[in-house]
Amino acid sequence: MFEDINNSGDGGIHGQVLKNNGFQGTNPGLTAYAAIGNVNISQDTSNPLSTAITSSLKVSVTSGTTGYVGFANTGYNGVPVLETTYANYFWIKGTYSGTITLQLVGSESGIVYASHNITVDSDPTTFTYYETSFRSTESPDGNNEWQLLFDATEVAGSSLNFGLVQLFPPTYHNRYNGLRDDVASFLAEIEPSFLRFPGGNNLEGASPGDRWKWNETIGPVVDRPGREGDWTYPNTDALGLDEYLYWCEDMGMTPILAVWSGLTLGGGIISGSALGPYVDDILNELEYLLGNTSTTYGALRAKNGRVNPWPVSHIEVGNEDNISGGCGTYASRFTQIYEAIHDQYPDITVIASTTSSSCLPATLPSGVWTDIHHYESPNTFVSLFNEWDNWSRDHPIFVGEYASTTGNDGSTTYWSNMQGSCGEAVYMIGLERNSDIVKMASFAPLLEHFDLAEWSPDLFGLDSSPDSITGSTSYYVQKLFSTNRGSTVLPVTSDSAFGPVYWVASVDKSTYYVKLANYGSSEELVTIEIEGTTAGTVQLLSGEELDSNYPHNVTITPQRSDVSGSGSFNVTLPAWAVAVLAVS
Ligand code: AHR
Repeated sequence: MFEDINNSGDGGIHGQVLKNNGFQGTNPGLTAYAAIGNVNISQDTSNPLSTAITSSLKVSVTSGTTGYVGFANTGYNGVPVLETTYANYFWIKGTYSGTITLQLVGSESGIVYASHNITVDSDPTTFTYYETSFRSTESPDGNNEWQLLFDATEVAGSSLNFGLVQLFPPTYHNRYNGLRDDVASFLAEIEPSFLRFPGGNNLEGASPGDRWKWNETIGPVVDRPGREGDWTYPNTDALGLDEYLYWCEDMGMTPILAVWSGLTLGGGIISGSALGPYVDDILNELEYLLGNTSTTYGALRAKNGRVNPWPVSHIEVGNEDNISGGCGTYASRFTQIYEAIHDQYPDITVIASTTSSSCLPATLPSGVWTDIHHYESPNTFVSLFNEWDNWSRDHPIFVGEYASTTGNDGSTTYWSNMQGSCGEAVYMIGLERNSDIVKMASFAPLLEHFDLAEWSPDLFGLDSSPDSITGSTSYYVQKLFSTNRGSTVLPVTSDSAFGPVYWVASVDKSTYYVKLANYGSSEELVTIEIEGTTAGTVQLLSGEELDSNYPHNVTITPQRSDVSGSGSFNVTLPAWAVAVLAVS
C-alpha cells in the first residue's frame, strides 16, 4: 500500500532528489535553497515557469561580482551522493551565454564529488530547458548539496531565473521521471503482487478542493501544480497516475486504484447530488486509464506516452469511510459510485473502504470486496489470528493496511521489533488459512525517510546517506511470506494447539510450504511430516523480543539452511521467530 507519507514519494521512492523544485504546497518559500557567492536568491512569482509551476528561483547578482556564483539545493535533508550517473534537468531564463557548472558537494566538508560543465545560451524572455548527465563519486554521508554555478561577471547587476531543477540517480527500469532504482529494487525483492494507491489519507484532502486530483498528476511534470499533501508537506505529484501504473507494470503488480468518495479529513463530506460531478470525474479517470485512443481521455493518455490502456481491474471507493464522520453517508456514496463504475465497467472489481456493515449498503452488491485496517499491539494481532475463520464467505476481504504500531504496554513503536513482527506473522498465518476470502493484504505504511517521518513504524526506510535503505523486521516477514507462496492451502493435523507456535501449510506444484511463527519467549522444536518429500530449505528470522533493524545496523535478516529427510523435518524455532520450510 503506497501513499506519499513520511516523504515516501518525494524524497523516497520517486527518483528526483532535489526539494521544493517547483515551489509547490501552501508555503514553499526558499525551503532547501541557499545562495552561493555574492548573490541574492528569492522565490519569483512574476516569472512563472508554466501555468502549473507558478514560481521560479531568481538569482540576483550584485554589481561588480566576479567568479562563479549561484545556488544550492540541499534536497530532502541532504542529497544522496552515490557512485553513479545522475541525470540533471533545469530551466533557465535571462541573458546568459556561457558555462554552467553543476556540482555535488559535501555541505560541511566542501568536498566536491561531482563537477560538470555545460554550455547554455539562455533567452531573456522565455525559459529554456536543459538536460545533462554526469558521474559522481560517493559521499560517506548524506550531508550533501547540489549546486548550480554560473559566471557572475556575465550577470553582475542583473539576474537569472531558474525553474524546476531536477536531479535523478538511476531510475528503476530506466524510466524518465521514474522511481529510484535502488529503492524500488529493494521493494521488488519482496515480490509484491499488488499496489494500492494513492492513499490512504493522502487521497482525501483537507477539503474537497485539496483532494488528490488524478488529472493534475499526469503529463509533463512542468504542467503538474502539485498540492499540499494530507501529511502536511507539499507533494510535487511528479509521482503521478501514470508513474504509479508504470511502477505496477515494471514490478508485476496489479494496480488497486483508490478513487475519492466524497470524504475529507475534517473538511466536510460531499454526498447526494453534490457528489455527481466527482462521480463524473471518476469516469473520466477510468476513460483515461481504460479508454481507447478515440476517446477524449484515452487520447490524452496516448499523448502522454501510453497508447495501450492500463490494466486497471480493481477500484477502491475511498479510504476508511467508517471514520472521519463518513459512516452515515458511505452507503449512499458507495452505491452512487459503484453503480456508475459497474454500469460502464462490469468487469471491474469494486472494493468498499470498510468492512463495517453499519456503514455499508444493507445489501452489498455481489462481487464487491471490503477493506479493513488494523494498527494494533502484538498481542492484539495474535488475538486476531482467527478473525476470518467464521466470517461470512459472501464478500472477499482486503486487509488494506496493517502493522504492529504499539507495544503490549501501549507504548508507541518507532522501529518494528521481533515481538511485533511475530504478532503480524501470526495474523498473516490466519489470513493465509482464510485465503478463500482474504484476497489481498498489505502492510502499511510502506516507506519512510527517516528524518522526515510523520508515522512509524514503516516497512522500510532510508535517509540521504549511501546504503541507508533499511528493511525492518516486518519487511523480512513480508518477504518470507510473499516469496514462499503456495497455490492451495492444505489441512494440517497436529498434536498441539495453536500458541505459542502458529502454522499454515500450502503447496504449489511439487513444493510444500509450511509457515511458522513462534510468538513466545522459549525455543520450540517442531517436527513436520509431509509424505513424499525429501529435501528443501528452512528460512528463519529470529531475534530478541524487542530487537529491531536500524539504519546502517541491520542485524535481523532471514537465514537459510538446507534440510533433508524422508518426509519428516525438524525445525527449531528460537524464541520470537518466523520460519518457512519449503520442501519437495
Ligand atoms: O497508513 C497510515 C494511515 O493510516 C493511512 O493514511 C490511513 O488510511 C490510516 O489511517
